Amino acid sequence: NKVFTRNLVRYSYISLKRFSTTSKRNHSVCVIGADGGIGSMLSLLLKLKPDLVTDIRMHDIRESVNGVAMDLSHINRSGTVRGYTGRSQLKKALKGADIVVISGGISKVAVMTRENLFIENASIMEEFARVCAEMCSEALIDIVTNPVNSCVPVFCETMRKLGTFNPTKVIGVTTLDLMRISTFIASMKGLDPRKVTCPVVGGHSLLTMVPLLSQCNPPINFSEDETVELFNKVRIAGEEVVRAKAGNGAAQIAMAYSLAYFIFDQLKAKRGKADVVQCGYVANNAHKTKYFATKLLLGTDGIIKDLGLGKLSSFEQEKIYEAIPIILRDVDTAERFIR
Ligand code: LMR
Repeated sequence: NKVFTRNLVRYSYISLKRFSTTSKRNHSVCVIGADGGIGSMLSLLLKLKPDLVTDIRMHDIRESVNGVAMDLSHINRSGTVRGYTGRSQLKKALKGADIVVISGGISKVAVMTRENLFIENASIMEEFARVCAEMCSEALIDIVTNPVNSCVPVFCETMRKLGTFNPTKVIGVTTLDLMRISTFIASMKGLDPRKVTCPVVGGHSLLTMVPLLSQCNPPINFSEDETVELFNKVRIAGEEVVRAKAGNGAAQIAMAYSLAYFIFDQLKAKRGKADVVQCGYVANNAHKTKYFATKLLLGTDGIIKDLGLGKLSSFEQEKIYEAIPIILRDVDTAERFIR
């Protein structure tokens, strides 16, 4: 009995300590497009980390999101999950959110490029930006809606027009590209994929995605053939998933997973963890394109430093030169839409 009581006291003390730490570190994540494949899987992964995410708001234009939120709320992890639907509840879902994930919009079916989605998704992006400007201009905004190269500028320029744009807070999340390349490298070289990292910069489309194989960790030597093979593999990965799903949409599972880990990194940085480096497509004029995916140091309040591209091989430099006019065109498309 004495041992039982001692354990009970110890257990309550630990729970109390946990509770008090968590209560000071409550983080709300609002997932927009939460009834879709990416949004619902992302919400599940967030739910499994109650030490980092304490409040999940799931928003979707479809009312069934309420059922998805209820389903998720039955998982025996602490924290709250709520569903929000339609335009009317969007404001409520966004109010006070620390991180807003925008995965809403239409996604590719066969024989489409990411650019084909622009017209539909640009209007949606503009609307989200207006509501975010009003309800949560201090939140970190993570965008994965395609075409990322143009949707991020539409969002940022709309916020800029409204006087609320903060370039350290809006990121086009490209972590899927980093995850894919580390998986492909590991499989080519017989390594553990979790122990391989490789930055991917430029943009998130066929010819703008530039993996920096020369900056791989651990350092790895690639032949010319291997380099070309890896570039092609990562660049067409999204198209291959679309083709293999034969009309049933684009990548969702790996996208949700990569997005969740990006958010966990953001939250760890928010809590003061040092040296959190990620890549993302952000407002950046280093290449005169206004936007570019680059290496970023994350901190307590978003991006604290743009780490640039680092030293490039001549092959990577050539691919950056090829990407620049395409990103310029993608940003210009966004700016013309805004005008
Ligand atoms: C991907 O890279 O898989 C996503 O951008 C989805 C797509 O449309 O390719």
